[in-house]
Amino acid sequence: MSDRQRSLEAIQFHYDVGNEFYALWLDRRMVYSCAMWPPGMLANDLEAAQVAKLDHHLDQVDISTASSILDVGCGWGALLIRALERNERLASLVGLTLSKEQCDHVNRVAAGKPQIACRLENWLDHRAASPYDGIVSVGAFEHFATPEDDDCQRLEKYRAFFRFCKQNLVPRGRLSLQTIAYLDMDRKDASNFMEAEIFPNSDLPYLAEVVKACEGVLEITAVRNDRFDYARTCGLWLQRLKERRTEAIRLASEDVVRKFEKYLALSSVGFYQGKICLLRLTACRT
Ligand SMILES: C[S@@+](CC[C@H](N)C(=O)[O-])C[C@H]1O[C@@H](n2cnc3c(N)ncnc32)[C@H](O)[C@@H]1O
Repeated sequence: MSDRQRSLEAIQFHYDVGNEFYALWLDRRMVYSCAMWPPGMLANDLEAAQVAKLDHHLDQVDISTASSILDVGCGWGALLIRALERNERLASLVGLTLSKEQCDHVNRVAAGKPQIACRLENWLDHRAASPYDGIVSVGAFEHFATPEDDDCQRLEKYRAFFRFCKQNLVPRGRLSLQTIAYLDMDRKDASNFMEAEIFPNSDLPYLAEVVKACEGVLEITAVRNDRFDYARTCGLWLQRLKERRTEAIRLASEDVVRKFEKYLALSSVGFYQGKICLLRLTACRT
């Protein structure tokens, strides 16, 4: 089976649970990645923290002057929609996802917004009509390498992604990337449960690997580790899922709900303990 086919099957496995299930416990915009709490924001305000995160990435790619943006791994389209709210002059907003449910949802909610187009397409196959002013990728990088890859193969996959960004950015165009990464743990101790039951065929990077893969391709201008933001996000997701447990079981099954509860609890603890971290990295084309 090709890498592309394996990625497609792995993503569809995770999202086949259905949009309605995720809508029960995500925020109103259905953002499925770590939120961001600027100082002073209420700890339980997931809605505001997700908008703050979207705005962080949009600021990194200079949304106020951009005219075209690519979102690699656009989920249910929250960033594309927020971008248009921030800058009505944007001419082209392209989102890529491997989930048909997500793609149909984005194209449905973006009806009447001709600037937004979501494609069911792997970034490996994406051919842009012209280079983008900015590229954002939030929560997709975790799916680019697999547990079977050796160090060289993994690095080559990450480098290929950064080369793709370089080729598809205008000169001085910027990439805003968000990914979970290993921090204080060995890759070989990664959870079997997560690999088998939640995110098959996925592996995390270390910061050093991300930096090495970027070297000579894109210029890194900022890196942050916001692991406590993700500990809090997973905690809130878990709380919201528990509050809607009966409906969740009706939409999925008790077994699926139990797995999601375990995954969110394990993730929250992992971020709190510093086993894993949350990288937000900005890089630009030289
Ligand atoms: C955890 S979700 C994050 C979604 C969104 N960025 C958000 O923050 O809500 C990961 C997304 O990455 C997409 N993805 C993963 N690998 C991909 C690939 N190789 N090409 C395109 N999209 C990919 C998935 O389909 C999914 O939409």
